[in-house]
Amino acid sequence: MEIYRTNNYYEMSCKAAGIIAAQVILKPDSVLGLATGSTPEGIYQQLIGKYNKGELDFSKVKTVNLDEYKGLDKSNDQSYQYYMFNKLFRHINIKAENYYLPNGMAKDSKEECESYDQLIQDLGNIDLQLLGLGQNGHIGFNEPDDHFPKGTHLVALAQSTIQANSRFFEKDEDVPRYAYTMGIGNIMQAKKIVVVVNGRQKADILKQVVSGPITPNVPASILQLHKDVTIVGDREALSLL
Ligand code: GLP
Repeated sequence: MEIYRTNNYYEMSCKAAGIIAAQVILKPDSVLGLATGSTPEGIYQQLIGKYNKGELDFSKVKTVNLDEYKGLDKSNDQSYQYYMFNKLFRHINIKAENYYLPNGMAKDSKEECESYDQLIQDLGNIDLQLLGLGQNGHIGFNEPDDHFPKGTHLVALAQSTIQANSRFFEKDEDVPRYAYTMGIGNIMQAKKIVVVVNGRQKADILKQVVSGPITPNVPASILQLHKDVTIVGDREALSLL
């Protein structure tokens, strides 16, 4: 694992955006695996800035997102489709047919999971996967478990995740209890992985991820086995390493 130390959220975002920009410049038809949550927002702003300056061209880029809440459609401002469209896609020249998220409104969950796995395979796997880190060590929505799920699946969100997400919803009962997520197998097949982490509240879990035992109880710990992982963290998140 390569670890980049940065001083703050802004520097973390610039550094991670630089890595993604390099990927797109070197391989204009890259398949990018994208993430949501508050951590990557600064990265998306930086990428939009680079696009506006003419430094980046997304016309051949394809993207697949990690996850989506079950039961939320793209008009719901808490859906990840809404997030991605408004925080990135509508600001750059990516083609509408080239970005993908799991369909939270799918009628048949099993079929949705199978077709998302097939899609990733058809795209030729992910060149660069961006990851945030949940406070319980989850990546995507792969929650602590007794095994590492391989493919895309429907997951019952952990109580701690529901609680962490409740800040975005008006009423507690509106917070989704289920989500679709790529599996650990999909993530580990990415050629390169970039993890972004900021804030003191992630320091303990990041320490476990990087130097603790590899266990499905800390899903991100599996990243120790990947051959090309870069962690970009701010000083606070890296304070225990
Ligand atoms: C959600 C997402 C994850 C994300 C995590 C951390 O659970 N499914 O992909 O990494 O939140 O979010 P934040 O970056 O807001 O701390």
